[in-house]
Amino acid sequence: MKKIAVFASGTGTNFDAIQRAIENKELNAEIALVVVDKKTAKVIEKARNKGIETYVFSYKDFENKAECEKEIVRRCKAAGVEWIALAGYMRIITHVLLDAFPNRIINIHPALLPSFKGAHGIEDAYNYGCKVMGVTIHYVNEEMDAGKIIAQRAFDVPENATLETVEAMIHQIEHVLYPETLQKLLGE
Ligand code: GRF
Repeated sequence: MKKIAVFASGTGTNFDAIQRAIENKELNAEIALVVVDKKTAKVIEKARNKGIETYVFSYKDFENKAECEKEIVRRCKAAGVEWIALAGYMRIITHVLLDAFPNRIINIHPALLPSFKGAHGIEDAYNYGCKVMGVTIHYVNEEMDAGKIIAQRAFDVPENATLETVEAMIHQIEHVLYPETLQKLLGE
């Protein structure tokens, strides 16, 4: 059974979806650690309710980012983590983490990359007037939302869709695509 870490900064609906897929035996893996850089993030409670180990920290508790990432690497290795899935983790990862897990860190982005990178992908695509929107899963590198694409899923934006409608559609796709993609990758 492959051990994964989920890194998150917020609500953790993707964490939920991954954990649900594991419980339903659609994803053959175990979330060994949830790494959270925000002490108020809702995902912390969700992980603890499932009895999953969490590492909650604040970057400002460290001298610099490298020191912080060294500690993250140590925690991941200690938990036996082989793959890292970023799910709403609002930080750029540096070479310290990337070198410790080469080609083993992936991210989910709520837009069709390379368009609409950044923290407001859904809103940006919606405001641009896109008629097709979607989700991307990609390898992580030192540039934001720029690593090699692993999977994408698109949908036609319904006529007169509100931002809330497309957000819901994006999240629905994410919650299917992330566990599915992890299953494919981990099986390889
Ligand atoms: C998702 O939309 C993901 O694509 C983006 O951040 C959001 C995280 O949502 N990177 P959640 O915390 O998993 O609910």
